[in-house]
Amino acid sequence: MRETIDTVPVNLGDRSYEVRVGQGLIARAGVEIAPLLRRKRVAIVTEETVAALHLAPLRAALQAEGIPSEALVLPPGEGTKSWPQFERTVEWLLDQKVERGDLVVALGGGVIGDLVGFAAAVMRRGVRFVQIPTSLLAQVDSSVGGKTGINTRQGKNLVGAFHQPSLVLADIGVLDTLPGRDFLAGYGEVVKYGLLGDARFFEWLEVNGPALARGDRALRQEAVRHAVAMKAGIVERDETEQGERALLNLGHTFGHALEAATGYSDRLLHGEGVAIGCLLAFDLSARLGLCSQEAPERVAAHLAAMGMKRRLGDIPGDLPGRDGLIALMAQDKKVQDGRMRFILARGLGESFVTSDVPRAALASLLDEALR
Ligand code: GLY
Repeated sequence: MRETIDTVPVNLGDRSYEVRVGQGLIARAGVEIAPLLRRKRVAIVTEETVAALHLAPLRAALQAEGIPSEALVLPPGEGTKSWPQFERTVEWLLDQKVERGDLVVALGGGVIGDLVGFAAAVMRRGVRFVQIPTSLLAQVDSSVGGKTGINTRQGKNLVGAFHQPSLVLADIGVLDTLPGRDFLAGYGEVVKYGLLGDARFFEWLEVNGPALARGDRALRQEAVRHAVAMKAGIVERDETEQGERALLNLGHTFGHALEAATGYSDRLLHGEGVAIGCLLAFDLSARLGLCSQEAPERVAAHLAAMGMKRRLGDIPGDLPGRDGLIALMAQDKKVQDGRMRFILARGLGESFVTSDVPRAALASLLDEALR
């Protein structure tokens, strides 16, 4: 079993930080966080499900280094990324007398990371925070790169800020506590990295994905490390998404529309929508003659080998028709000058951004996918 801890630097000048990936990082949290502290105390924000599993070990690890902590435990679920819970979090942090030089810890999945990061971004015009991501999705994507925010009734992530964490501790051991479905949904984001920019990583996943899903921790660590290193590179080159960072949205234009169509319910988890969306993006790319038919076939075969949802028919319940889905896609954040933007591919690992997708091609893709 691999016992080493990998360190992935994110080089952003005076906002640089490290992502540590390995087992037992929650048990080491005091040692990892202590050097960042100006005074020995931290405020932790988490949610009920995560708190039941990981809050006491985290607080004990901090206490072992003489770091007292207070904790706010929010309700679980996407509904927590809201104005009311945001207000509650900011008020609580102010009540804890968190100062500019202090550190806030976000312990949880993407919902907690985004909400707490945003609270840290705005309170006292910015306090530092540490991400301790507890879902695979948060470890490989949302905890790294500084996107923070909440949802409003107008849509997801429409209010937020770029605020980079000061440290990310991705403890591979916590993935053992995830329900299988959540793990595989997070894996959708892992596959995305291979598909968007690294065919060799996709090939590695084709070989190692099934064992990794069964629980091999060394393979899990390597997959998370590789995905984080890819994301760090992209964020270093394009922190505020003026260009390349948009590639991280591969599969998301379709995925977000499907999430909206299913009411952001447990009919479809975010990462499941991303995986289905990646396959649709490759199907569309092949249809437009950008890549060979073999590429979407390999994507589909890998998702099938992993036991993942991959087709619209795998989503339980009814979906809107083709025009309804296109209307939902047109509401995406990535729409520019009224034109939908897509991440398409010239092959496995060769994605690019384009607005140049004829509506007829999209319509016939969806007609077939809905059949
Ligand atoms: N999750 C996409 C990004 O961080 O840009």
